[in-house]
Amino acid sequence: MHWTAVTNRRELVPRVDDRRIPVVVTERRVEASGEEVVSLRLAAPDRRELPPWRPGAHLDVELPSGRLRQYSLCGDPGDTRSYRIAVRRIPGGGGSAEIHDNIPVGTALVVRGPRNAFPFAVPGYGSPAQRVRFLAGGIGITPILPMVRLAESLGIDWTLVYTGRARDTLPFLREAEQFGQRVTVRTDDRHGLPTAAELLAGVGTGTAVYCCGPAPMVAAVAGAVREIPGVELHSERFSAPPIVNGVPFEIQLGAGGAVIEVPADRSALDVLLEHRPDQPYSCRQGFCRTCRVRVAAGTPDHRDKVLTPAERDNGDLLVCVSRCAGGRLVLDL
Ligand code: FES
Repeated sequence: MHWTAVTNRRELVPRVDDRRIPVVVTERRVEASGEEVVSLRLAAPDRRELPPWRPGAHLDVELPSGRLRQYSLCGDPGDTRSYRIAVRRIPGGGGSAEIHDNIPVGTALVVRGPRNAFPFAVPGYGSPAQRVRFLAGGIGITPILPMVRLAESLGIDWTLVYTGRARDTLPFLREAEQFGQRVTVRTDDRHGLPTAAELLAGVGTGTAVYCCGPAPMVAAVAGAVREIPGVELHSERFSAPPIVNGVPFEIQLGAGGAVIEVPADRSALDVLLEHRPDQPYSCRQGFCRTCRVRVAAGTPDHRDKVLTPAERDNGDLLVCVSRCAGGRLVLDL
């Protein structure tokens, strides 16, 4: 058997579910040294049941500032009355700093979802794989943990390699290590940066690999998996995908508005945010539609996976990933 499939958020079209759910923070815990990672438990104000979810799902969280951020659900899907998310403090990151500094227990929030763009296809229940290798880098453990618990409960043959800078920076390490020898913890301070070959040691035909972590780790694993026949890769990365074959172009902020340059190696969203800090965005990967703008003139280079032909004909553009093949886009801002 030789099959290779690669999925990630950019290639999956999630079910659009924009229901808004009021929640309140019922618990806040520090999950890594230096308070780098905190987890929040969220429940309905009246503790009623919350919409169900499956491993790999995430929430869109509306923060009091108006920011919208996505966080993987990392609790127990069997707990129907609370959600757990975890947030790593990102230097210069407005959303993560807001959660770390200004969201104590008792804070009311609104969440949307849950949505699942990183579903776990269970071996023996629809997936042709016979075993699973989970790969988690740092906060990338969050969507992986519920998958691990499900794999264990179903008696699936699975292993996890959990990587990060040092043991005390790894969130939920105790929860991961409770599974004993199935789990390998590999830290940079003791072992150096892991290579893809090390992360995939022992992976062969019939294995499904679920990888979540920094973009370089996901890219290295994706490249290595292509060389192994019969391995299925599912991945989720935390940052915007690399820009491939980008060319510089201009965007004009409304008819007669300012014209700004978008270099070949930057996204239109990043440049736009410097001039319009209130421009909405969320996933930065071209699937949530939050950053949608209207093009009044110019020829877009659409790089998202979700807009319909009719929406594109209508001038819609997802500026986090889409570009212009050269020249200028006039945005209807
Ligand atoms: S930010 Fe999600 S589609 Fe652009």
